[in-house]
Amino acid sequence: MSILPSAGNGRVTVPEILSRKKFRSGEPPSTEPKITSVTAYDYPTARLVDEAGIDIVLVGDSLAMAVLGYENTLPVTMDEMLHHTRAVRRGVKRALLVADMPFGTFQNGAAEAVRNATRFVKEAGAEAVKIEGGERRMDLVARLVEAEIPVMGHIGLTPQSLHALGGFRVQGKTAEAAEALLRDAQALAAAGAFSIVIEAVPREIAARITDGVPVPTIGIGAGPDCDGQVLVLSDLLGLTNGHTPKFARKYADLAETIRGAVERYADDVRKGAFPSDAESYHLPAGVRESDSVKKM
Ligand code: KIV
Repeated sequence: MSILPSAGNGRVTVPEILSRKKFRSGEPPSTEPKITSVTAYDYPTARLVDEAGIDIVLVGDSLAMAVLGYENTLPVTMDEMLHHTRAVRRGVKRALLVADMPFGTFQNGAAEAVRNATRFVKEAGAEAVKIEGGERRMDLVARLVEAEIPVMGHIGLTPQSLHALGGFRVQGKTAEAAEALLRDAQALAAAGAFSIVIEAVPREIAARITDGVPVPTIGIGAGPDCDGQVLVLSDLLGLTNGHTPKFARKYADLAETIRGAVERYADDVRKGAFPSDAESYHLPAGVRESDSVKKM
């Protein structure tokens, strides 16, 4: 069996994502377009983002806030993530499907982490997992890769470190912090991660990291110089309740569309304007005219 960047059936593969790195030392710059990624949490939106030609669909642990109504990502469980990953799997036919390992499922020893990551692949059809954290995840990334599970790293603002970071803040704003981020990215790449999400980091630092690692960087709030971009689907569609960060460009206002549609429906029901006669079923003429129906 040959390992080609494309599976030959139009599906996006891990080797293909790796081949989309813009600059790799000793190789000519890739002419491939940037990598596109969004989150999805259910079957209908997974199907739509896949049909839209997105390269990587991420079942992010942002599920906790975007769909389940939690205040942050910490409470979401392995079972909840598996349930939603399975639904997304049924909708995604072309994109690479990555599942986010939730808080508490990979921090307590490599054996448990490999067991949990394996469940995403075996029980939910994920093709890779994402884990938050830099240098200190090096050994774990290597273990997962050895277990044939491709890993996407995630550095910068890592929401699972909310309490340690003291809030959702831009990271890497001092020279020391920026150097630490570069070390994080290099460690993840050396351990075998096939791509690295960089979240909420100054553009200049994300560009430096992108130049300094041989695997694609996928930015979110990290400026335009990364090898790709990812957004939370609810932010992109205008479904997020409350504050959204400045990088979260809103491409639609689905909250307004949904609210307006449901208000019009409820209004029509109250006025008796829904359903109309044309939206109702009718008896066949012969039955309608029969004596027994007339007597009813
Ligand atoms: O959980 C998530 O949605 C993420 C993305 C923001 C990268 O980690």
